[in-house]
Amino acid sequence: MDHVDLAGLGLDEGGHLLVARALSGLRPQERLAVTGTHRALRLHLAAWCREHGHRVAADRLESAPAGVVLTADTAAFADPAATVIVVRGSAGDRRWQGAERAGSAAGPPAERASQAWGLAARGALVEAGGPPLGARWAERDHVWADIAPQLYAAAAASQWDPATAVDWAAQAGDVPAEIERAVVQLMTYLVENEQAALIIPARLLSQLHPHYREVMQLLASQAADEARHVEVFTRRALLSGGEPGTSSAGGRASLQTLLDEPDFTIAAFLLSVLGEGTFLDLLRFIADHAPDQVTADVTRLAARDEARHVAFGVAHTAHLARSDRHYLGTLRQAVERRHSALRDTAGLNAEVFDALVLLAAGSWSPEAIKRGWHAVRDLRSRMDEGRRRRLAAIGFPDDEAAQLSALHTRNFM
Ligand SMILES: [Fe+2]
Ligand SMILES: [Fe+2]
Repeated sequence: MDHVDLAGLGLDEGGHLLVARALSGLRPQERLAVTGTHRALRLHLAAWCREHGHRVAADRLESAPAGVVLTADTAAFADPAATVIVVRGSAGDRRWQGAERAGSAAGPPAERASQAWGLAARGALVEAGGPPLGARWAERDHVWADIAPQLYAAAAASQWDPATAVDWAAQAGDVPAEIERAVVQLMTYLVENEQAALIIPARLLSQLHPHYREVMQLLASQAADEARHVEVFTRRALLSGGEPGTSSAGGRASLQTLLDEPDFTIAAFLLSVLGEGTFLDLLRFIADHAPDQVTADVTRLAARDEARHVAFGVAHTAHLARSDRHYLGTLRQAVERRHSALRDTAGLNAEVFDALVLLAAGSWSPEAIKRGWHAVRDLRSRMDEGRRRRLAAIGFPDDEAAQLSALHTRNFM
């Protein structure tokens, strides 16, 4: 008979771990002699056994510790009152009947994640009977991109601290008042767009099956990136001590269509491929024409993060388009639907457009304004080229990519 000696350890102080460990090596109905000097050993052991489907042998004769070698430090064992024989039950085995692995920890994530896996770690042995998860996105192709693990690692390695990554003491004091107003208007517009860009991945994340862990982590880091962008653009807007600029109804209408899009991939496509892709050029434009170091720094830092968001959007949409050859048609309809919904809105805030021209002009002389206006026209064609390139990467033929790019919102995002 196997034997475990608890010495003075009570079951109320962890003694049950030693008993359970000893029982785990036995088959049902095999016996274990438990010895110890704790006053309530028999009482506690009987209660613990009932709870865990084992039983304590009934009489003292049955409990005789035959075959157990006595040693000096198990003197209590010599007292039959301190020896309890536990008969192993089979409840523990029954508990894991019907258990299944939540996919494989080593292999690729499962094609379909079971709601019954709930919050279990990928590859964990899942006891049956827990609450089902109710995750809306539980199919790999609808959320996945093979590049997601690398992008998450890059995101984790590239987090920056707004307090130290930007030299906030490099005052915008030398910026002429009207150029400063233009910067404040652009920052006000950026904050509005960043807030939409934060809410959308956070919403997708809340409905994603956590089996697709790397996508979940990537969306969480994306939301954290946007939180920083909201912070630094707000700080830059308020740096000179004035009020923020304007928020247009047309701009907000454009963002609302993104917030209202229920589908994971269409939301990622419209936000990240088309919107954030277009924003990459916008942020670089503002950085290149920034009248002060803070404006240049905050837009460059944000653009670095945005490049990852765009990379996931393109990779995921391309992944789904490869697995479902009709999917490009679904994406095309989504762009057309959004274009119709926004047809009667102004799109880009006119004050944002004017601010971009003035920023690039640098002054109010007619020559400078002409230069600024042409710079913004060139920006718009760079944005269009970028969208066409990304649409082609997803699988659209060039002519269709050009048509769809032209239907993109005038609000840029
Ligand atoms: Fe952002
Ligand atoms: Fe973003």
